[in-house]
Amino acid sequence: MQTFHLDLNAPAFVRDPYPTLAELRGKMPVFYDEVWNKVFFLRYEDISALLRDKRLGRSITHILSRDELGWPPPNLLVRDFDHFQANHMLDNESPKHTRLKGLMLKAFTPARVESLRGKIRSIVNGLIDRAEDVGHMDLLTDYAEPLPVTVIAELLGVPEEDRHLLRPWSASIVKLYELGYSDQQAREANQAVLDFSGYIQTLADECRKKPKDNLITALVEVEEQGQKLTADELVANCILLLNAGHEATVNGTTSGFLALSRNPDQLELAKEAATKGHAEFFKTAVEELLRYDTPLPMFERWVLEDLEYGDIQLDKGQEVALMYASGNRDPSKFPDPDRLNLTRQENYHLTFGLGIHYCIGAPLARLELQTSFQTLLKRLPKVHLTTDNIEYAGGFVIRGHKAMPVEF
Ligand code: HEM
Repeated sequence: MQTFHLDLNAPAFVRDPYPTLAELRGKMPVFYDEVWNKVFFLRYEDISALLRDKRLGRSITHILSRDELGWPPPNLLVRDFDHFQANHMLDNESPKHTRLKGLMLKAFTPARVESLRGKIRSIVNGLIDRAEDVGHMDLLTDYAEPLPVTVIAELLGVPEEDRHLLRPWSASIVKLYELGYSDQQAREANQAVLDFSGYIQTLADECRKKPKDNLITALVEVEEQGQKLTADELVANCILLLNAGHEATVNGTTSGFLALSRNPDQLELAKEAATKGHAEFFKTAVEELLRYDTPLPMFERWVLEDLEYGDIQLDKGQEVALMYASGNRDPSKFPDPDRLNLTRQENYHLTFGLGIHYCIGAPLARLELQTSFQTLLKRLPKVHLTTDNIEYAGGFVIRGHKAMPVEF
């Protein structure tokens, strides 16, 4: 296998990873990176096959001990974060993952998502009402960020006066998903997990005593074949919903708007559809925006048993990095992949993953993004960036922007 080092956090790569990914995909679609100690996969076909292969998983410590992995003892600074990880579905494999996801899906139903449609519309309209007369806003902080956090708060049943707590907790926690974080970030994230857990625990206790029409009550009540969520599992999965559901939707909004701004013909098409009230157009358009610039561009998997994938030998305990952003631009899957085409059909992108960890929030994210783009372009048809120099905050894994100033 070829060896190469990909500097994931180089500012130029974070800003526009696609030319580098295209070059690598052509020359070296699989390579070993010594610095990250991971095998990188860049082709759609490989990523989609590996995501569905049960011999790989998101966690490894249920198979190998830290000693066997040659890991140092657990970092005590992130003790509560580790406990949280151990109890939510994303970092578990079957059978625990199957049980947790099954229970969550019984409460987080399509009907519950659909019931949020009117609320999402009114949140989005409220945000535009606030900005309309001012004539400018930061699309990131004034539009993209408040929507998903308010929706999750609404879904979980977090009262309005406490909602300002959620975003800072989430922002601190997701820092630990980047490759390489400081002790200070570890401390802050761990404290955020502790504070957030205590908060959800109190809400859950209240819902147990006095059931309400919200997801926490549904999770308290949910039961499958005599199985219930433990108190720790309930808390961990609620926190996961906020984290997983939040940053990606924010990035999806800002990256999508940037892509539209840089493709004026497609922006015109979208404005026309918005003016005419073509909701169907936005279903296809949002899929394309999510493919074209993937909000969460890379996920990792552990090799759970020695395996041969084609002519590549992967050893138990090896970590692989799956570049969803690269798979989404693979010409063997998407004709003319570097072109933003809002009417693209057969758009089987990797943005929500594949296999057992497929995103549980995809229907909600789609509903939020469709409503958000359609309403923005309908109500503010002159909306445009005030600068094309848009900076990225942080690294590649959670690829978000610092600000996105717009005028209308
Ligand atoms: C544009 C927005 C979103 C994107 C791009 C996205 C992407 C993803 C991806 C790629 C995965 C799988 C991770 C992997 O393969 O390792 C995932 C899992 C997950 N997502 Fe999302 N997501 C989004 C929105 C949401 C929302 C709104 C929620 C919740 C309200 C959510 C909750 C989750 C959860 C709980 C999982 C774990 C599923 C499991 O382990 O079985 N996501 N998401």
